[in-house]
Formats: sequence, C-alpha cells, structure tokens
Amino acid sequence: MTQEQKSIHEFVQDRYASIALGQSNSCCGSDDDCCGTNDKTVTLYDAEMLVDLPVDVTGLSLGCGDPVTIAGLNAGETVVDLGSGGGIDCFLAARQVGADGHVIGVDMTPAMLEKANANKARMGVENVEFRKGQIEAMPIDDNTADVIMSNCVINLSPDKRAVFNEAIRVLKPGGRVSISDIVTEGEFTPELRADAEQWAECVTGAIDVNEYTQMMADAGFVDIAIVDKVDAGNIVTPQPGMPRIYSARITAYKPQA
Ligand SMILES: C[S@@+](CC[C@H](N)C(=O)[O-])C[C@H]1O[C@@H](n2cnc3c(N)ncnc32)[C@H](O)[C@@H]1O
Repeated sequence: MTQEQKSIHEFVQDRYASIALGQSNSCCGSDDDCCGTNDKTVTLYDAEMLVDLPVDVTGLSLGCGDPVTIAGLNAGETVVDLGSGGGIDCFLAARQVGADGHVIGVDMTPAMLEKANANKARMGVENVEFRKGQIEAMPIDDNTADVIMSNCVINLSPDKRAVFNEAIRVLKPGGRVSISDIVTEGEFTPELRADAEQWAECVTGAIDVNEYTQMMADAGFVDIAIVDKVDAGNIVTPQPGMPRIYSARITAYKPQA
C-alpha cells in the first residue's frame, strides 16, 4: 500500500471512529423504547425489515441502499459484509441465513467494531462475528464465503482493485456479491479527488460506474448486473464541477470453475 493510500485509510478511519464515538452508548428505558429507526434508514430499507432492530443499530446505519434484499440469502449460507460499521446489514443477514448460517462483518475501525459487538451482545445474536481488518486484505480464508455484501464502503477504498481481487479470493466458486455503493457518471477533478474530507464522506472516492464494473470484470467476476442506480442527492451534496453521483446496487458472480 502506498503512503497516499495509507493516509486515506487513516483519514477514513478517523472519521468513522468519531461517528461511532459520537453515538450514545446508553440504552434507553425499556426494550420497546430501544427499537426504532431514523429517517434515512427507513428510506434505505423496507420498513418491515427494521422491526425489532435496536435504535443503536438503525441509528448507526451509514449505508446508501439495501444490499441484503438483492443478495437473496438462503438458510445456512456464509456471508461476509465489507465495512460492517454498526452491523445493520450483518444483523439483517443473520436472520435470513439462520442458525446454520454465519455472518462475518469486517471493519478497520476499532470504535465501530466495539459498537457492532455491543449491538450483537444486546441483541443476543450468535451467528454473527465482527473481525478487524481492511477490505483490501480481508481476514477471511480462501473460498469460504457464499455471499459478499457491502454497503457504501468500496467507494472509500483507495485501492478498489485490491478489494475486488480479495472478494474473488474469499468467495466459493459460484459465490456472489451484492453491493450498494456510490458511483459516478464521469470523473472528479484531481482537486476534488484530493479532498480527503469529501472522500471520507463517500463522495470524491467514488468512481465512474463503468470503471467500477470493469474493475470487477478484471478481477474475474461474471454476470455483473446493475440492479438499480438512483440519484444520490439525498445522501451526498453535489457541488459545481462534480460528475453526476448515484447510489447503485450491483450484483455479480465468481465463476464456478
Ligand atoms: C459509510 S460506513 C458504512 C457502514 C455500514 N456498511 C452501514 O451500511 O451502515 C463505512 C464503514 O466502512 C469502514 N471502512 C471504510 N474503509 C474501510 C476499509 N478500507 N477496510 C475496512 N473497513 C473500512 C468504516 O470504518 C465504516 O465503519
């Protein structure tokens, strides 16, 4: 990893550490009171999916879409969530894969992992674990995952090719990815690319959607599909000189052989 890439990691990590630490650690009065949503979470997910999730989970939802539903998870599957944050997608996936399934959330930010583990303990979920690591070098064995999910994280990576190569390594043959992410149509200027604040806000690290899917193909993914692509104006604030910015959901497969 280059020094520039390390600096981006540090900047991104600092930002998400402060978001995690800014959340209340305390639980509210009763279990009922602890469940709830924030407005943004409601727009990302079908409301029924959020029933019974504690507000400490929904309130720390930092994604840009719902990668869980389009993953079509089955009981017993092993799922890896790249950049798991407070764990919302891991907990949603855990319900779908059931007691015989397993969900592994990977995140590089210790304060986020603490939040996710506290949420796990409060919910009493047993088929989820959170691992510290970078998505460019995942702490996961080869050919072990049925599904890789990610929600608004790969745009933050300074080495997206490494992320897709790692995803191919970790997936079983025939395994699939289900991604929700920020992409663009067109390029940011070099000046905007160098804006670390906006990179960490999931804006200027985003790349053109065609480049994104080409990187996936270069890594070996097949049947790459853009499930949907909607204007991301409600998530990021576009500025003059920026390309069009979208939240896209993308699926793809690792070949069987
Ligand atoms: C925008 S938040 C999304 C969190 C979660 N996916 C969600 O939907 O709420 C980005 C998360 O990815 C983590 N992250 C960013 N870049 C990463 C990297 N290169 N490796 C591992 N984790 C990363 C951050 O620590 C943060 O928790």
